[in-house]
Amino acid sequence: MRTQYCGHLSHKNIGETVTLCGWVDRRRDLGGVIFLHIRDRSGYVQIVSEPERTPNSYHLAEGLRSEYVVRITGKVSQRPTESFNDRITTGDIEVYADEIEILSKVQKNLPFQVSTSENETVREELRLRYRYLDLRRERMSRNLQVRHQVVKAVRRFLEDQEGFMEIETPILTKSTPEGARDFVLPSRVNPGDWFALPQSPQLFKQMLMVSGFDRYYQIARCFRDEDLRADRQPEFTQLDMEMSFMTQDQIMALNERLIAHVFKEVKGVDLALPLPQITYKDAMDRYGCDKPDTRFALELVDLSEIFKDSGFKVFSGAIAAGGIVKVLPIPGGNETISNVRIKPGGNLFKEASDMGAKGLAYIRFVDGDLETIGAIKDSLTPESKAKLMAMTGAKDGDLLLFGAGDAAMVNKTLDRLRQVIGQELGMIDENQMNLLWVIDFPMFEWNADENRLEALHHPFTAPKAEDVIELSTARAQAYDMVLNGTELGGGSVRIFQRKLQEQVFKAIGLSDAEAQSKFGFLLEAFEYGTPPHGGIAFGLDRLVMLLVGEDSIRDVIAFPKTQQAKCVLTDAPSQVSDQQLKELSVRSTHVPKPSAG
Ligand code: AMO
Repeated sequence: MRTQYCGHLSHKNIGETVTLCGWVDRRRDLGGVIFLHIRDRSGYVQIVSEPERTPNSYHLAEGLRSEYVVRITGKVSQRPTESFNDRITTGDIEVYADEIEILSKVQKNLPFQVSTSENETVREELRLRYRYLDLRRERMSRNLQVRHQVVKAVRRFLEDQEGFMEIETPILTKSTPEGARDFVLPSRVNPGDWFALPQSPQLFKQMLMVSGFDRYYQIARCFRDEDLRADRQPEFTQLDMEMSFMTQDQIMALNERLIAHVFKEVKGVDLALPLPQITYKDAMDRYGCDKPDTRFALELVDLSEIFKDSGFKVFSGAIAAGGIVKVLPIPGGNETISNVRIKPGGNLFKEASDMGAKGLAYIRFVDGDLETIGAIKDSLTPESKAKLMAMTGAKDGDLLLFGAGDAAMVNKTLDRLRQVIGQELGMIDENQMNLLWVIDFPMFEWNADENRLEALHHPFTAPKAEDVIELSTARAQAYDMVLNGTELGGGSVRIFQRKLQEQVFKAIGLSDAEAQSKFGFLLEAFEYGTPPHGGIAFGLDRLVMLLVGEDSIRDVIAFPKTQQAKCVLTDAPSQVSDQQLKELSVRSTHVPKPSAG
């Protein structure tokens, strides 16, 4: 039907007669000459029709409207120099349309303009309702093309250079514990029993190692019924990998090369390898989080030592209760951050209290003196003041924001403030790509609600050999890759001995019977000859989102769910018939709310 894509034409084609198929992106009638932009997934090209030179097409060109699908045959010509457009590859040519054929018309009003001169203010819900139109737009089309390039680069690297095999694992399966809620499906054939959709292929990829496949990967769909955020979807894609007979360092080195390959292929960027590494403890101490954005400095400082015996009871009391006192020093903060913003009613105060802080104490350094509330000022001796300045590097003009209380809350608060302030003060270079590894995670964290230890990664992660004697405080052989403050991927070296796996299950509060019923098959597999192994999974959607510079993973997924976890294009989830439920031996207990009016 056509000779080539619109966007692939260039001045090299001048003089050729070509046939193009695509959508009418734009039509301008200059009275006597009509200009069209014809678009396909490769870009667009300018078409010209006029009564004298192209009499056959002129009357049809007059009737064309946006988004009609057309086939056009004509001769490629050079554009007059004054109308060159160097923003597009076809900007120095145009095609004189000898023939135009309308393949499909638009029968209704378009819900929004699709044209390349797109309107960015269209509501997302409307875009998702008419996703097929939204995906015609240049930005979305480019995002999906980059996604495809990323997957292609990954496949080439893993398969052709590193000998990985792609193997599919089941979607109808038993719940795999990655810490989120499962989506479950009733089994018709086994009434009363339920499948779970995989939160990740974790246990299957470990089985594949037991089977000897040695190097596995999969572009794997995963399902987690958790609250949605800009970088989370209930259904998302992992680049999932597992390998045998490799140490943690070797696994990390291979994955750095993989990501560097993707950056080179897709963005033409050379990453400096090896990537920096930071321990979990350092990351928490310095940034208050385990996925630090290192594009800007602003580092936290723990001042518990200074305030533990001080007369300011809010601080000393917090420390006595097992908490900490930490600050976020902001160089030049007196200039840039007013008191109104730090005090109740201010936006920074609100950020802090959203994270659980009860107040937001501060110190300003002004003319060699401190400006703060009397109680803090009085609590500082000249020596402790000098020590505070030495530890924080603070000088005249600087502001310190305090967090005091339980360590988790303090870190959460100051991490949040650090990000907001870094953003507001324009300290972040949006073009920078800061990749790093976070390592030496603890095996477990305390789940206060359930009163038990919980695996920080998952319970199949191996402890560091030197920490095995005391599992509850052991560090894990786990690693996360972080890009500009977003967790891109995470993995670990796995336990491959039945005994150690049983000890870890016990540590997280699983009884022998529970461990057997949930993971008996894994424990058994370990008894039939299991290689030491480890792996990782990257969030493919997140990787693409960061590569194309989008703020939401919905913009790099063809058909994402809304914030309310719905597909508004197909109207899912939706009701099923009573007959279907009956066949599945399921009854709904949901009572619909009476509709208003
Ligand atoms: P983890 O749970 O850390 O590890 O997931 C790996 C990566 O997947 C991405 N991710 C998500 N992306 C979009 N929406 C979500 N809801 C979502 N949840 C996670 C993140 C994350 O880093 N089986 C282990 C991996 C392993 O140990 O090999 C796992 O699933 O980018």
